[in-house]
Amino acid sequence: MSKPARVLVTPALPYANGAIHLGHLVEHIQVNTYVRALRMAGDDVLYVCGADSHGAPIEIAAKKQQVAPEVYVEQVRAQQEATFARFHVAFDGGYGSTHTPENERHAGRFYAALKAAGHVVTKEVEQLQDPTDGRFLADRFVKGTCPRCGAADQYGDACENCNTTYRPTDLVKPYSVITGATPVLGKSTHYMLTLGAYGERLQSYLGDATVLHPSLRNFLDKWFADGLKDWDISRDGPYFGFKIPGEDNKYFYVWLDAPIGYVSLSERALATRGDASSSWESWWRDPSVRVEHFIGKDILYFHTLFWPAMLMATGDTLPRAIHVHGMLTVDGVKMSKSRGTFLNADDFAAVCEPQALRYYFAAKMSAEPQDIDLSFVDFTNRVNADLVNNVVNLVSRTVPMLHRSFDSKPVTMPDDLTGLVTEAQDLAPRVLAHYRALDTAAVIREVTALGSKANKLLQDTAPWDLLRTDAPRAHAVLTTALFVGKTCLALLKPVLPDVAAKLAGILGVAPFTFENAADPLVVGRAINPYERLFERLDLKALQGLIKPVDAPAPTTNAVTSAAPKADKSDAKKAEAKKKVEPLPPPAEITFDDFAKVDLRAAKIMQANAVEGSDKLIHVKADVGALGVREIFTGLRPHVQPEQLQGRIVVVCANLAPRKMAKFGTSHGMILAAGEPPCPLFVDAAKPGDRVS
Ligand code: 2FM
Ligand code: ZN
Repeated sequence: MSKPARVLVTPALPYANGAIHLGHLVEHIQVNTYVRALRMAGDDVLYVCGADSHGAPIEIAAKKQQVAPEVYVEQVRAQQEATFARFHVAFDGGYGSTHTPENERHAGRFYAALKAAGHVVTKEVEQLQDPTDGRFLADRFVKGTCPRCGAADQYGDACENCNTTYRPTDLVKPYSVITGATPVLGKSTHYMLTLGAYGERLQSYLGDATVLHPSLRNFLDKWFADGLKDWDISRDGPYFGFKIPGEDNKYFYVWLDAPIGYVSLSERALATRGDASSSWESWWRDPSVRVEHFIGKDILYFHTLFWPAMLMATGDTLPRAIHVHGMLTVDGVKMSKSRGTFLNADDFAAVCEPQALRYYFAAKMSAEPQDIDLSFVDFTNRVNADLVNNVVNLVSRTVPMLHRSFDSKPVTMPDDLTGLVTEAQDLAPRVLAHYRALDTAAVIREVTALGSKANKLLQDTAPWDLLRTDAPRAHAVLTTALFVGKTCLALLKPVLPDVAAKLAGILGVAPFTFENAADPLVVGRAINPYERLFERLDLKALQGLIKPVDAPAPTTNAVTSAAPKADKSDAKKAEAKKKVEPLPPPAEITFDDFAKVDLRAAKIMQANAVEGSDKLIHVKADVGALGVREIFTGLRPHVQPEQLQGRIVVVCANLAPRKMAKFGTSHGMILAAGEPPCPLFVDAAKPGDRVS
């Protein structure tokens, strides 16, 4: 047997300064569907992602919340991971971060290679500075009056009133967004990467039409025609990032170490895979591995120029493909906070089955980097008509009838329906090819077309009536319709993973693959009772999500970067547009949701500091009837292990076990509160007591 293809897939890393919104999900749903399809076909896929944890906006947001940036980014990271999980998105090694020792080590490695090649130079840079703390202010942190139209409170790079672009020093009456002080002009030495040194190699690399969609060629042509400018890769403190080796108050610019995160996250994921031979080098230094990045248009410059140049310096593998998707619009218009269309992913999941969004985005996406429009009316119609009333209907109608009238057993499919059966069988390889080509719109088109044919068969034959006059024929038609429905949903497994898993359970078959998707049902073997696969969407509930700004929104949509960004043709603008907002309060939950959380008293039998971590304590806790649990808690900055010994604490006992990179698996969480957060001690309780 030939070795499976090895593919390393990455979505862009969301900034750790806000909640996941539907703009992020366009990309993450596309990537996750792709990864699931490759895996279903037997490819060996390494799929990594984590929070992009550095930069001035994050440092400032943490300061505003009076927490250390490490604590701030960890809170956001954890929240983002939970949101992704609701949409069936989970990464190898968990959802990581760029603020890790591995990433720092790799950043040093890239920097050393660039330096050794002679492609790092220094330059004196003039920039506005906040006089109160000497902070150099990025363009978005200076506001003032537009020098052209006189509009007040305009950002340092462009006027939103008259669209003029200018330098922050051109603003009239400038002020620091952080302190309100009038900025002063300061000078500092910056490190620059001489990108031009890679010009020819980049041009030849990007000339390969399989790397980048041809429709994006014109961006590249313009950039090369304008000449590649030196890239400023350092920032002065205060900043949250990695210190530049040998410097005291200079840090790598967030965009230097962000893509390096693709490598360090791979290293972490491989460690938790438990595969000793899978070093990061075996993925990043083996040219047979296909490295594929998925990004939005707005970060094209970073991924087509800076990042490949950095990889050329170290000799790590260049991406075989940079897949670019369009931006999300809602009802044809860019997502907007004031219109209330900047939709938070958790809010969305509270009113709508997340797989419905996966289905809708799949139905609308292909490899073309076009914008994707979400219209709730179209969304509801397509999910209800094409999915629930069509493909799902083939299962929901037939399984109960097979149970009621035919002892739950499929029968041989009749000869006159062979055409339909063959069609279903022929579809599997075609659908896989569509997935590989990122043409999920074609997947949905073909699968629903087949579903419609089987539904027509049901309508024309009406087995619910026929079983009174010709039971064998009714039985054969029901079996055939169920077979087609099963094949359709098996082929949609990358889009609707839960539905496919539930269906495999109903039919009592192994998890679906492209190999077995069109296998006939086993004649005479009883299937299990029907379990609801999908609810119809409620348009009203969805429309309730759109709350223009003057009405309070369900939760604050903390802004990150991905969706509503304009295309940026140069690196400098990238950091600029990021807004800093407080973390949103958690979405409201129902009593039933709360009742799912199993809080128990647990006695700490053993507590030891974890070597190699300055935060973790490894705890063995007696949870009464639930046994002894091993838990890793991040409370070491606030409590010493010996202070925990013998105490009774509150744990969340039904939290899914979580692998901690390198250290082991944590099964449960110790609750803490206060400033600093200390464990909640309930010494009067007995181990295993429920906390209510
Ligand atoms: O634009 C953004 O949201 C960035 N956080 C993407 C980083 S992708 C990679 F380079 F890390
Ligand atoms: Zn103006």
